[in-house]
Amino acid sequence: MKTIMSIDHIRKEFHHKVVLKDVSFTIPTGSIFAFLGSNGAGKSTLLNIIIQILLPTSGRIFMNGKEVLKSKIGVVFQENTLDDDLTIYENLWIRGKLYHISNEKLRHQIIVLSNKLGMASFLHQIYKECSGGQKRIASIARALLMNPEILIMDEATTALDIETRKKLWDFLLEQNKLKNLTIFFSSHYIEEAKVATNLCILKSGVILFHGTYRSLLQKYGKKYLQVQLKDQLLKKEVTSIKQSLLFLEKLDDKKIDTFSVSNSDLEDIFLKLVSYGDISH
Ligand SMILES: Nc1ncnc2c1ncn2[C@@H]1O[C@H](COP(=O)(O)OP(=O)(O)O)[C@@H](O)[C@H]1O
Ligand SMILES: [Mg+2]
Repeated sequence: MKTIMSIDHIRKEFHHKVVLKDVSFTIPTGSIFAFLGSNGAGKSTLLNIIIQILLPTSGRIFMNGKEVLKSKIGVVFQENTLDDDLTIYENLWIRGKLYHISNEKLRHQIIVLSNKLGMASFLHQIYKECSGGQKRIASIARALLMNPEILIMDEATTALDIETRKKLWDFLLEQNKLKNLTIFFSSHYIEEAKVATNLCILKSGVILFHGTYRSLLQKYGKKYLQVQLKDQLLKKEVTSIKQSLLFLEKLDDKKIDTFSVSNSDLEDIFLKLVSYGDISH
C-alpha cells in the first residue's frame, strides 16, 4: 500500500512544555484516517505542523516520500477562516484565482461543489451572515477547490447537525472512491470515526494506538452478554457465543426477558484506552 504522508519522530515543545512526544505514523494513500484524542491531546498542533503553520522542535514530515507540497493539501481549520464581508462565491473565486485556475474552470468547479455540497441556496450570501453549518460547508468547499490529494480537517464537522454531517460525509466518501482522495481528520467525537479505515489515538502527545479499524477491534474489542431479567440487568464479558449459551443455561429461563451478545464499540475502547492506556491484557 502506498503512503501519502509519513510523520517521522515529531516532537513539539512550547516553552519547555512537551506537547508532542516522538510521534510517528504513516497515512496510507486513499485512506480515511481518523486522528482521535481528547481536548488538549495535541491534535491541532500536529495538524499545524503537517501544513507548515508550526515548526516541530524535532522530527520530519514527508509527503509521497518528499517535501510536503502545500498546494496538494486541502485544509479545513477548527475555526472559520473565510473573509467575513464577501459572499461565499466571492471567497471561493478569490481562492481559486490565487491558485491561477482559469475563469471557466473555476466557475465550473464552484458550481459542481455547490451542487454536491448543497450550497446553492446560500452561495451568494455574505459569509458573516451565514449559519455556523453553512460556514463549515463553505470552508470544506474551499479546501476541495484545487482538487487536493489529501484533505486535512481539524474537528471540522463536529459542530454540524446530523443531517448536514451525513450529507457531507456521503460526498467526502464519494470523492475518496472516485478520486482516491485521502481524508485525514481530527475529532474528539468518537462516533464520527466509524467512517474511518484507519485510526490513530493520541493522549497527551503520545500515540496509544495506530492501525486499521479492524485491528483496533481485534486487539481491544470484547464481547458482552447482556441479560435482562425481570428485576435486574446482567452484563458479563464473554469470550465466545458458546460461553454465553452455557451461562444462559444456568439461569432460570422464566426469569429472562431478553438477552443479547454484542461487541464493544469504538467509544468503549476509546474511553478505556485514554483512561487506562494499554487495555489488551
Ligand atoms: N501556541 C501555544 N503555546 C503554548 N501552548 C500551546 C500552544 N498551542 C497549543 N498549546 C498547548 O498544547 C496542548 C495541545 O493543544 P492542541 O494541539 O490544541 O490540542 P487538541 O487539538 O488535541 O485539543 C494543550 O495543552 C495546549 O494548551
Ligand atoms: Mg484542536
